[in-house]
Amino acid sequence: MVPKHIALIMDGNGRWAKAKGKPRTFGHKKGSETLKQICKDAYNLGVEYITVYAFSTENWKRSTEEVSFLMNLLRSYLKESIKNATENNMRVRVIGDREDLAEDIKEAIIKMEEATKDFTGLNLTIALNYGGRDEILRGIKKQMNILIKEVTIESSDETADNQLTQLLNKINNINEKDFTLYLDTKGIPDPDLMIRTSGELRTSNFLPWQLAYTEFYFTNCHWPDFNRSELEKAIEYYNQRDRRFGGAK
Ligand code: FPP
Repeated sequence: MVPKHIALIMDGNGRWAKAKGKPRTFGHKKGSETLKQICKDAYNLGVEYITVYAFSTENWKRSTEEVSFLMNLLRSYLKESIKNATENNMRVRVIGDREDLAEDIKEAIIKMEEATKDFTGLNLTIALNYGGRDEILRGIKKQMNILIKEVTIESSDETADNQLTQLLNKINNINEKDFTLYLDTKGIPDPDLMIRTSGELRTSNFLPWQLAYTEFYFTNCHWPDFNRSELEKAIEYYNQRDRRFGGAK
């Protein structure tokens, strides 16, 4: 069975470049080409959703030169992506906190999401200025703001005491399904398989809520070298797993 949704931590661009005596940025450039190819390969294999960790909230700590290179790479990726998405019938979305992104990048994201929203091929989600804990906190704030507004509007004649009781009732009735509507990934199913390249055995704040029941596959292959046959190996591993969900086989 092919996983419906694969999450990808594209690690090792820097190490790959260093091993070739090149600057880290050379690895990122090759990494972005690998991503384009992997999207096509994954879709041809039957994968419906790909979510990639392109820039984490932690990545701002890298050198100014590397951050601006990555942002420029994203700029050109976004620019090209409408054409690329149209050719491949691909729907592209971005998750993460957009506030801190440059205005032109924010605009390019809106344009791309709008232009590709009806495409029915691969669903590509790019995590940009993304941190999983940050996503959960933003989700909590969004939901609380909405609940408070609802109570104050619905019960404007009531005493503050009654309003507070209603609000507490609403808060105590929040369930997991409701809360997922406030996450950036609203409407996107949870990943079935998470692949991290380049040997590190951790998830680094990538989709902590969504990966709760996901199978993990780690490979020493650096991201720029990742290809269709590596992807097939990961899918084969996924198929060998006995998929269990908390007791129910
Ligand atoms: C991790 O490698 C990779 C990143 C932080 C950036 C990922 C970005 C790309 C693959 C290309 C850009 C993507 C898009 C959507 C345009 P690393 O730099 O941490 O490598 P290292 O661990 O070897 O240092």
